[in-house]
Amino acid sequence: MEIIKVANYEEMSTVAGKRIAERVRNNPNIVLGLATGSTPQGVYQYLIHDFKINGTSYKNVTSVNLDEYVGMDPEDPNSYHYFMRKNLFDHINMVNENVHVPNGVANNLDEECIRYEQGIKELGGIDLQLLGIGENGHIGFNEPGTPFSSRTHIVTLSENTRKANSRFFASIEDVPKQAITMGIATILDSREILLLASGEKKAKAVARLLKQGISEDFPASSLKQHKNVTIIADQDALKYS
Ligand code: GLP
Repeated sequence: MEIIKVANYEEMSTVAGKRIAERVRNNPNIVLGLATGSTPQGVYQYLIHDFKINGTSYKNVTSVNLDEYVGMDPEDPNSYHYFMRKNLFDHINMVNENVHVPNGVANNLDEECIRYEQGIKELGGIDLQLLGIGENGHIGFNEPGTPFSSRTHIVTLSENTRKANSRFFASIEDVPKQAITMGIATILDSREILLLASGEKKAKAVARLLKQGISEDFPASSLKQHKNVTIIADQDALKYS
């Protein structure tokens, strides 16, 4: 794992954004694995700016998102579908048909998991996967204890994760109890992985990732088995490392 130490959130976003824009320019048909949450918002702002200033084109780019809440309609402002549109897709020239986010309101969620996983395979896999990290070390919505062999599946969110994500909702009761997420094996199949971490809240998770071994108790540690992972972390996130 390569570690890039940066000063703050802004620098993290710029360094990551530059790398992604460069990958898109070098491979206009790239398959990007995208993430939601507060962490990648600055990266998306960078990409929008770069699109406007440098004209980096997303016409032939395909995106696959990591996860979605179960029961959340794509039009719901708290859905990850909505997040991606508002934070990125509405502002660049992505083609709708090339955007993939798990369907949290599918009639048959097990079939949706198979369909999503199959879809990624048919695209030829993910070229570059962007990741945040949960305070408990989750990646996507793969909570501690998730087998590293897991594929796209339905998860029950931990209290810890629901609490962390409740800041986007009116109250914790409104945070869905389940989600659909790419599995750890799905993520590890990506050819390149970029993990971002910013702020003191992530410092314990980042320290565990960097200092301790590989364990299913800590999903992000699975990344140590991957050959092409870059971590971009700011000073606060590296506080205990
Ligand atoms: C969420 C998402 C993850 C994200 C993580 C951290 O629950 N499912 O994909 O990486 O938690 O979120 P944030 O960036 O808001 O701290």
